[in-house]
Amino acid sequence: MKICLIGAGRIGAVHAIAIAGEATTTLHSVVDLHPEAAEQLAKKYNAIALNLDQAFNNNEIDAFIIASSTATHADLIERCARAGKPVFCEKPIDLSLDRALSCAKVVKESGIVCMIGFNRRFDPHMVSLKNKVDANLIGSVQSLIINSHDPEPPSMEYIASSGGLFYDMMIHDFDMACWILKDTPSNIYVAATATNDDIASYGDVDTASVILTMKNGAIATIINGRQAAFGYDQRIEVFGQKGMLQVQNALEDNVVLSNANGINQAKAKYFFLERYEKAYHNELVHFMKSVQTGAKPSVDISDGVLALKIAEAAKQSFESGNPVNL
Ligand SMILES: NC(=O)c1ccc[n+]([C@@H]2O[C@H](COP(=O)([O-])OP(=O)(O)OC[C@H]3O[C@@H](n4cnc5c(N)ncnc54)[C@H](O)[C@@H]3O)[C@@H](O)[C@H]2O)c1
Repeated sequence: MKICLIGAGRIGAVHAIAIAGEATTTLHSVVDLHPEAAEQLAKKYNAIALNLDQAFNNNEIDAFIIASSTATHADLIERCARAGKPVFCEKPIDLSLDRALSCAKVVKESGIVCMIGFNRRFDPHMVSLKNKVDANLIGSVQSLIINSHDPEPPSMEYIASSGGLFYDMMIHDFDMACWILKDTPSNIYVAATATNDDIASYGDVDTASVILTMKNGAIATIINGRQAAFGYDQRIEVFGQKGMLQVQNALEDNVVLSNANGINQAKAKYFFLERYEKAYHNELVHFMKSVQTGAKPSVDISDGVLALKIAEAAKQSFESGNPVNL
């Protein structure tokens, strides 16, 4: 499978690693608004740099991966749909729910395979937790707690076009809550603030706690922050009538030093590349299987629309200070 990667930034580089590490895929070409960024990444993997028109006119390309800035996603997905090309697109689909819905309509009418990049669903630890919930090992679920803190904020240039914490960061957790609980929220309540003055100057927040009341009655609490002193904080706890499941942080190594000063362990793995390397590989394999068989991917554009709908409600709750019904 020859893949064209659109976007040679942080996550574009991660997808290039996954493509190169998978025997059935080859990085055919890279497109970026900045041709030198495309050339640099392409050169590393013996691929070629193209512009968008060249890429969509190239018959050798089997599928596209969209890893460019958020504002480009819906237009590029639609371009893939019009060209009849399978597409994997990073989250979120767009910052507007209406635009995401119109994009989903175009995708549906075209019949192309379209997968959205909720990579955490492909992390082996998260998959194991989900399988145990589904196998009823903890009985009916009463509550879910997700803690997600980045090690450091992204660049202010990134913050400016990210759409804010709910659309950019917490959207992963909205998807995780719906996926693990096999449910959607009926109500959302948000408390959030900006501790970083630069982030505040963009009208964004960097610290947020969100409570989702799910339709079946379970309560999901999501805690997000843009800065953690000890690495990428990614913890999940599911509490049920018969027990509890937890995914703890993945650490840089598993050595525990116990001495007179205390008991010490390594920091958490640094960020998304280190923590979710296996997940990015597994999601690529899943996408490729869908492309080969034509089967609907397990995370498709409707999941992207649902997570966006919750992000929109989160923003409304934050701005109004009131709970919002979905
Ligand atoms: N799933 C994940 O773990 C994850 C992690 C990080 C980012 N993301 C998502 O990936 C997207 C990119 O994030 P990033 O951190 O890599 O950002 P980035 O700013 O590092 O990279 C974005 C790249 O897209 C390029 N670009 C912008 N407009 C373009 C266009 N019209 N055509 C071609 N290239 C264009 C930019 O020049 C830049 O190189 C965002 O939507 C973000 O939400 C997902």
